[in-house]
Amino acid sequence: MAEYTKEDPKTIQEMFGNIAKQYDRANSLLSFNMHKRWNRELVKFVTENASPKKYLDLCCGTGEIAYTFLDQVAHPCEVFFLDFCPEMLECAKKKATQKDLGDHRLYYLQADAQKIPLPSNSIESVTIAYGIRNVQDPLKCAKEVFRVLQPKGRFGILELTKPTNFLMKLGHKMYLKALLPILGKWIASNRQAYQYLSGSIQSFISAEEMEHVLKDAGFHTTSRRPLSGGIATIILGEK
Ligand SMILES: C[S@@+](CC[C@H](N)C(=O)[O-])C[C@H]1O[C@@H](n2cnc3c(N)ncnc32)[C@H](O)[C@@H]1O
Repeated sequence: MAEYTKEDPKTIQEMFGNIAKQYDRANSLLSFNMHKRWNRELVKFVTENASPKKYLDLCCGTGEIAYTFLDQVAHPCEVFFLDFCPEMLECAKKKATQKDLGDHRLYYLQADAQKIPLPSNSIESVTIAYGIRNVQDPLKCAKEVFRVLQPKGRFGILELTKPTNFLMKLGHKMYLKALLPILGKWIASNRQAYQYLSGSIQSFISAEEMEHVLKDAGFHTTSRRPLSGGIATIILGEK
C-alpha cells in the first residue's frame, strides 16, 4: 500500500476517497462531536456583520461547513463546494438531496485548493476546515483565496492544533499517537489513514505561523481564536 504523503497529493486524494463514506461518523466519534460547535463558530466568524451571497468552502469534504452556513442564512446564496476528491464531493451532493435548500444555488467543483477555478474578486466569504494541513503549499492556497475574494472579503481557517497547557498537551499527544489510529481502524477500517491524520496534526505549522502565512498572502487584518483549550483554532484574514 502506498504511503500517504502530501508531497504526493494523489495519495491524499486516494486516502480521502477510501474513508469518504465513513468520514462523518468517524468525525463525530473521534471529536466527541465537538467539531459541530467549532464548525458553527467558523461560519459565525466569517459571516459576522456581513451577509455573504457568494460563499466558497475549500476542502469541503462531505460539505459539513457549507451546509452549516446554509442552515444559518435567510437570503438566497450561491455556494461553491470545492474538493479534489470525487468520492467526498459525491457524499456532499448526496446530502443536498436530504435538505430543503430553497432558492440557494450550489456548485460542486472538483479542483485543487491551490488553483481555484473561479474569477478574481468574485467571492465574499471563504472557509477551509481541517483541510489546510493537507494542502501541499498553504501559502499558494492563501494567495489563491486572496485573489478570488472581493475587497473586505473574509477567509476563515479552522484547523486542529496543539494545546499549550502542559497537561492538555500530554493528553492530546497520547490521544493522537495511541488512540486516534486505533479508533480510526475500528470506525473506518483504515488505521493507516488515521495514522497519517494524526501525524499531520502533530507536524503542521502552528496557528501563529499560519496567521503569518495569511499576512504573506496579502491579508491586512488577521486574528486567531483558540477553541476548546487550543485543540482547534480559527485563523481569520480580511482582504
Ligand atoms: C479532513 S477533510 C475535511 C473535510 C471538511 N472540510 C470537514 O469539515 O469535514 C480534508 C478534505 O480536504 C480535501 N483536500 C486535501 N487537499 C486538497 C487540495 N489540495 N485541494 C482540494 N481538496 C483537498 C480532501 O479530499 C478532504 O476531503
